[in-house]
Amino acid sequence: MALSSITLSSFRCFNSLKIDLSPRANFFYGKNGSGKTSILEAIYLVCSGRSFKSSNIESAVMLDKESFHLKAYDNESGFIIEAYKERSKSIQLKLNNKKITISEAAKTFPATIIDNKTFSFTEAAPAFRRKILDRAVFLSDESYSANWFAYFRALKQRNKLLKDRQLASLEPWSEKLASLGETLTDKRKIFFDQTKNEFSNIIKSLNLKAEKIFINDIDVQYDQGWCNSQDLISTLTLERDTDIRRKVTTRGPHKADIKIYIKNVDAKEILSRGEQKLLAIIWLCSQHEVLRSIYGIKPTLLIDDVKSELDIDTFNIYISLLKLIENQVIFSNIEDQINSKIEAELINIKKFHVEQLS
Ligand SMILES: Nc1ncnc2c1ncn2[C@@H]1O[C@H](COP(=O)(O)OP(=O)(O)OP(=O)(O)O)[C@@H](O)[C@H]1O
Ligand SMILES: [Mg+2]
Repeated sequence: MALSSITLSSFRCFNSLKIDLSPRANFFYGKNGSGKTSILEAIYLVCSGRSFKSSNIESAVMLDKESFHLKAYDNESGFIIEAYKERSKSIQLKLNNKKITISEAAKTFPATIIDNKTFSFTEAAPAFRRKILDRAVFLSDESYSANWFAYFRALKQRNKLLKDRQLASLEPWSEKLASLGETLTDKRKIFFDQTKNEFSNIIKSLNLKAEKIFINDIDVQYDQGWCNSQDLISTLTLERDTDIRRKVTTRGPHKADIKIYIKNVDAKEILSRGEQKLLAIIWLCSQHEVLRSIYGIKPTLLIDDVKSELDIDTFNIYISLLKLIENQVIFSNIEDQINSKIEAELINIKKFHVEQLS
């Protein structure tokens, strides 16, 4: 779903602001401190109940104010979504005036953020890449969330037994964990394979110049978290002594990762910052395309500070990518990099000079 407009009240530096958005590309530009990240944060927050900038949502309440209120509309469905936060109270989310949970909001108005943290995609810990995949599978598969929570509850229980040395009860929990873990992995693998396929389609259609040829050599592999040639129960049985010694379940989908190689070398050893950033953007756009074309889900894609670390050639690749993405995209940059030629190429792009908004 695309947001048609959003109003921000007492949110960070904005006392009161209404923005009408395009269903396709939206570009916010302005100086340091003008409010670009805050606008993207507000859009992400109203869609997900979470901030990508800070774990303490209270910090987003305007200084000297008691609460913030965000209200967004989708003209196509007629849906109104709101986020209200009073200092020292938990955040409240509403859909059409009825209270909803964070996960209901995320399913109704899915959004993905690409910011500085995402740009170190290849360097980040495996948990970061797992989370990116999990969030997409959570949207594409109705039963994934229940399966995910059941797996992690069983893992917690098995780890407790290992820690407390209650080894007599270990086997039934290993079996339960293995069965939930296999299902979880099947679901992740389906989505991963679809993304990988889309990733190579996108790369082909980008017509990259020779200097960006590294992208053609990228090989993305799903590491399920235990040996590929074994089922999970066999691994848990084989690793039983190791797990007892270490007092923790050492193998399983909680150790899964997305491995990125260039000619068999770990990509983080090879790629420059700008190349990593481009890779992260293409990978996340591939996930978005899968969600749209296979599952009929249209998450909004938010990209903060797009141009930092991208040279002009790489930025042009990004623009070509935007032409391929049919979802709503909201991105920001310090300078106005969108000239009239790009504007003519991108249908329905809206440009906002942030300093002139409030
Ligand atoms: N709770 C708050 N109340 C009032 N102002 C705030 C609050 N939180 C942040 N600010 C201010 O809001 C302004 C906008 O910050 P924001 O991070 O959105 O800027 P930006 O345009 O993304 O800048 P940059 O280009 O440096 O990334 C900053 O001046 C910041 O100090
Ligand atoms: Mg910023």
